Amino acid sequence: MTWDWKTGLRGGELPDFIERNVDLAARTTLALPGRAAFLATIRSTAQLLQLAQLTQRTGGDPPRRFVLGAGSNLVLTGDFDGLVLQMAIAGRQLVGEDAESWHVRAGAGENWHQLVNWTLAQGWPGLENLSLIPGTVGAAPVQNIGAYGLEVAERILSLDVCDTLTGEISRLTPADCRFGYRDSLFKQQGWHLEGRRAIVSVTFRLPKVWRALTAYADLATEIDRQGVRHPDARQIASAVIAVRRRKLPDPAAVPNAGSFFHNPVVSAALAQALAERYPTLPRYPQADGAVKLAAGWLIEQSGWKGRNLGRVGMYEKQALVLVNRGGAHGAEVIALADAVRAAVRERFGVELTPEPVFL
Ligand code: EPU
Repeated sequence: MTWDWKTGLRGGELPDFIERNVDLAARTTLALPGRAAFLATIRSTAQLLQLAQLTQRTGGDPPRRFVLGAGSNLVLTGDFDGLVLQMAIAGRQLVGEDAESWHVRAGAGENWHQLVNWTLAQGWPGLENLSLIPGTVGAAPVQNIGAYGLEVAERILSLDVCDTLTGEISRLTPADCRFGYRDSLFKQQGWHLEGRRAIVSVTFRLPKVWRALTAYADLATEIDRQGVRHPDARQIASAVIAVRRRKLPDPAAVPNAGSFFHNPVVSAALAQALAERYPTLPRYPQADGAVKLAAGWLIEQSGWKGRNLGRVGMYEKQALVLVNRGGAHGAEVIALADAVRAAVRERFGVELTPEPVFL
């Protein structure tokens, strides 16, 4: 049996978990057009090993790979002439505990929000501030998802990753992952894009002595509004869900990829100078003295909130979210992102960087 990634399999059948010429639009939340030459739906680590052995047998260069979760942080710029690994490994269980925490492991393909709900229902709090974030468990560490005062890195005990060329599995600690704001080793070293390593499961550390994180302005306001004095984890989850539903578009109704830019981190001097000219500028001082600004505010002030270019636009209730108004192509997304970046640069001298992955 010879496997040729350009022409498919010669002298044999495709393994049943690999499809050819697959439409990716419906597998992403921005719903941009694009097809993958091959797509493997990965339901077990055994399939990753099988795939690695298949690739080894062919000799020559392995195909380009891209590891896909729910496609909620992805901009398709066209067709992908390679192999998409759609991570669909299921499973979630308590795997241990220590004096401080419950240890809960979940497969990379589990839906993130369902995991949060399930942990809360089991009486293991700690992920409630991250309720309703679209996507999968395996994608959460890649960009270190964060919201309402919590980043997922703070709740991770370890990750299991598979080398997609050898099938070998190794366990990484949070220190190995070099987490930062919307950042990790998987982005820094291009692992995600090159598909060299796929996260197969994540083990969380959920605190036995739990403390409510309610300092984030929108969340505090919502909890007050609901008339709750000492919210428990499920009440915090409800408040987070209410805030998100109010501000962020549901990808099923209005295709989008969440925040389209990082919140820029600038020097204290620049933040101070801008605040003198624009007194309402939101500023979030960082531990190292730098200051994080609100990209949504900068975009709104630059006149782009609710404004369209082609078939895409910046969302009317949250200017940081780029939305597909229907039938858009990747090139339109790039054109709008460039226009918004130029407007913010011109007005504030601040450079925005896109947050999703471009394929
Ligand atoms: N703002 C505006 N106009 C806008 C949007 C925001 O003036 O159109 C102002 C707000 O009034 C507020 C500040 O900007 O003063 C921050 O806004 P918000 O609280 O809505 O949060 P964000 O900084 O825009 C970040 C994350 C979100 C996360 C929220 C809540 C990034 C890139 N985005 O948004 O994450 O849900 O905080 O923690 O860090 C995502 O990554 O996809 C995402 C939605």
